Amino acid sequence: RSAPPATLVIFGASGDLTRRKLLPAVESLARHNRLPAEFALVGVARTPMADEEFASSALGVSRSLSDKAQLQGGIRYVSGGYDDPATYKRLAEVLDELDATRGTSGNRLFYLSTPAEAFEPVINGLAGAGLNHAREDSFARLVIEKPYGRDLETARELDAVVHSAFDEPQVFRIDHYLGKDTVQNVLALRFANSIFQPIWDRSWVDHVQITVAETLGVGTRGGFYEHAGAMRDIVQNHVLQVLALALMEPPASFDAEGLRNEKVKLLQAIRLPTNRDIADLAVRGQYTRGGTRQDLMAGYREEVGVDPLSRTETYAAMRLNVDNWRWAGVPFYVRTGKRLPARVTEVALQFQRPPHLPIPQDQLTGLEADALILRIQPNEGISLRFGAKVPGHSFRVRTASMDFSYEQTFAEESPEAYERLLLDALLGDPTLFIRSDEVEQCWRIVDPIIEHWANDPSPIPTYEAASWGPTDAERLIDRSGRHWRDSR
Ligand code: BG6
Repeated sequence: RSAPPATLVIFGASGDLTRRKLLPAVESLARHNRLPAEFALVGVARTPMADEEFASSALGVSRSLSDKAQLQGGIRYVSGGYDDPATYKRLAEVLDELDATRGTSGNRLFYLSTPAEAFEPVINGLAGAGLNHAREDSFARLVIEKPYGRDLETARELDAVVHSAFDEPQVFRIDHYLGKDTVQNVLALRFANSIFQPIWDRSWVDHVQITVAETLGVGTRGGFYEHAGAMRDIVQNHVLQVLALALMEPPASFDAEGLRNEKVKLLQAIRLPTNRDIADLAVRGQYTRGGTRQDLMAGYREEVGVDPLSRTETYAAMRLNVDNWRWAGVPFYVRTGKRLPARVTEVALQFQRPPHLPIPQDQLTGLEADALILRIQPNEGISLRFGAKVPGHSFRVRTASMDFSYEQTFAEESPEAYERLLLDALLGDPTLFIRSDEVEQCWRIVDPIIEHWANDPSPIPTYEAASWGPTDAERLIDRSGRHWRDSR
C-alpha cells in the first residue's frame, strides 16, 4: 500500500505531537517507500519559521539520506494566526504551487494537531479560502486529533462546525490506539478464528478487566491535562475503543461502516450509572509524591502548569455493564492512571470457575481462575492462563500459562500507530477512524461520571506515585469478590 500524490498540511506544525509522532511517521512512510515522488508536506503554525528551518526539523528526524532526497524540495512552512484569513490565502497559494511543481494533483490532507481551541478557526479559515472543497478527481480531507469536545454538548458543537465545511466522509477523527497492531489483533483473534467465539460471552466469561496503566506523570503537559483528566484523556477514547472492539458483535465485513456500526451498537448498550449508584461504580484519584528515595517523583499538584489545589483526576476506574444478550450480568472493570507502577495496556477476560471441582481444595493452592489476556503493550502478545497438574506423585493443580509473543513469532516490523493511520487517511480508508456517532456515544458514557465528580465537594482521593491507585479502586472490585489482576 502506497499513498497517492498528495500534500499533507499539518496545523500545529511547531507543536509537540508533530515533532514526536507526525514527522517521524512521515519519515518512516518515506523510508518504506510508501510515499510517491508527488508528495509534499506543509507545516502551518503561529511561530514564525523559514521553509528551510521547518524542513531541517522535519528532515532532522530522517535517518537516511535517500529519504531526505525524496522529501527535499517538497517541504514548505506557512506561519500566521489561525484566525487570520491571510494565513489561508498564503496556504492556498503554496498548495497551488506544489500542485504545479511537484504534481500533488490537488489532493490535500489537512491534519489538525493544534490545541483544541484552534479547531474552529482553522476549519473556518480553510472553508473561507475554499480549501474544504477538492477539485474534481481530487480529495480534501480533515484529520482531527483529540480531544473532540469536552463533553457531549461541545462535541456536537464541534461537529456542527466540522460539518459546516466538510462532509462526514471527508472527516477522519483520530484515536491512535486504533493504529496499534495489537488493538487490531483483537479483531483478528475474535473473528479470524472459531475457537474463541463460543466462549466469548456471559456463559463463560466471569468478568473482564481493561487496564491502561502508565508509569509517566503528566510531564510538560500539565497545562493541557488540568482541563482533561484521566476520564477525558484516556477513558473517553482509548479505553472505550478497545472495549468496543473486544465486546462488539461480529461484523459481516471489516469495511468502515460494518465495523463502526457494530462498535456503536455496543457502546449504545452500555448502561449509564444512575445518581444513586454512581459513587459505587466509578472511582477517581490523583497521584501524590511517591516512589523510592533514589527516585522520588513529584505529586501531581507539584507538576509544572498544575494548580496547587487541582482536583483533576490522574486515575479513573469504573465498573460498566453492557445490556445485551451476549453480556448481560457480566461486569467490566476498566482502570487507567498516570504514575502507576508499570506501563501496561491489556484486556483480560477472566473465565468462570468450573461448576464442580473433583479435586480437594488443598491440592489447588496457586490455582487462579482461567484467563485470556490480550497484551496490547508492552510485551505485545496473548497469554492463556489455565490450571495444569504439578509434576509429582500427588495430584496438585497450579496455574500455568501459554504465551504468544509478537516479537518472537513475527519477523515483520510493526509500524507506529501514527504511521499506519496517516497512510490510511491518505488512502481515504476511514475504518480505523472514529465516526461522529461513536464520539457521541463515548461522551454519553463518561459525561455523567465527570459531572458527578465535578459536583462532589469531598477531597479527591489520592494515591502515591508508583502505587496501583487509590484504595477506593480496590473496593470498587473487591466488593464483588473479585480482584484487580497484578498486571506486571
Ligand atoms: C494520549 C494521551 O492520547 O495517549 C496521553 O493524551 C497518553 O496522556 C498517551 O500518555 C498514551 O499513549 P500510548 O500510545 O503511549 O499508550
